[in-house]
Amino acid sequence: MAEREGSVAEAVVGTGPAPMLSGSPVGERGSMAAEVWEGLSEAPRTLSSKYFYDTRGSELFVEITGLAEYYPTRTERTLLERRGQELLRHHAPRALLELGAGSAKKTRVLLDAMETRDGGGVYIPQDVSGEFLEETARRLRDEYPHLEVSPLVGDLTHPFEPDLEVPRPVMVALLGSTIGNFTDAQATEILTNIQSFLQPGDRFLMGADLRPSAGKSVDELEAAYNDARGVTAEFNRNILANLNRRLGTDFQPDRFQHQAFYHVEGARIEMHLVSQGPQTIRIPGQGIVELENGESIRTEISRKWDRPSVERLFALGELELLEWITDERERYALAVGGPR
Ligand code: SAH
Ligand code: AVI
Repeated sequence: MAEREGSVAEAVVGTGPAPMLSGSPVGERGSMAAEVWEGLSEAPRTLSSKYFYDTRGSELFVEITGLAEYYPTRTERTLLERRGQELLRHHAPRALLELGAGSAKKTRVLLDAMETRDGGGVYIPQDVSGEFLEETARRLRDEYPHLEVSPLVGDLTHPFEPDLEVPRPVMVALLGSTIGNFTDAQATEILTNIQSFLQPGDRFLMGADLRPSAGKSVDELEAAYNDARGVTAEFNRNILANLNRRLGTDFQPDRFQHQAFYHVEGARIEMHLVSQGPQTIRIPGQGIVELENGESIRTEISRKWDRPSVERLFALGELELLEWITDERERYALAVGGPR
């Protein structure tokens, strides 16, 4: 059950349809609170996975990428090492614009190739995690003196800024299978925004974690989100700690249990936080959420792909799939697209 604060009428959450939301405070914090409130008022209750990524969350994700169980990062890196140089030679971008760049560790394979080319090039790492992005950019400037590094703090689900100018051809990259963290509608909008930004000769490079197959069992997939050391569980709970810091909510992260499983029909991993006992959570400026024992909040979807589903997504975004590169076990793919 949830109760809306202030002058707005009381609202009940969880036992009926989601309440109409009105009168949300202005400003970034206000809109974030309203978004959090809205997600927690839905059935199932959800939180946007972008709230994982404060500086601590970004660090925890880097730790995840080094875990034995988390195969996507190292598989993507292997594909980049095998084919990245050739991709850059073939498509010859003068700028690389990377959405959700994070630590940009794997991207270095592409940056190495750009750095050694005549005239270097421009690298624009974009991310919602501002301080972490600044640190990434600072390191890259030291490592790549011939590259111009221009970080961009922003939300990759938003349309590109109209005044964003980049040398062409540009390669827009979305690595790490971050596309999987968005619903079909969101993913289509992301690709449509990218397509609108691309000009003839520009390219889109996307990493996609693949569905279970002969080369990857459901167990292997689920283990990647249930690591033995509990780093993913800590990453999951950090979303609550981040909301406490940024919004002044009063979640008790230790009173939530990490849960991650493969949802076969949806072809996605779902991550949840399951309430250990009944809890009352205050969302400042919005209201109160009451959780029952065992009730869960879905914090992430991580959709898994195959070639037809990527082709379909590209077609919805009016992009043409030009190249499809996988590892021998077909666990992961790099997809290269261009404007139709
Ligand atoms: N590309 C890196 C990081 C992947 S983790 C890799 O492949 O390892 C996902 C990254 O996307 C994080 O750095 C996170 O901060 C960023 N991110 C998540 N949601 C975002 C959003 N809505 N807008 C911009 N960046 C986002
Ligand atoms: C960034 N993203 C693609 C990761 C994923 O696998 O969906 C985030 C993550 N969540 C848990 N572990 C890693």
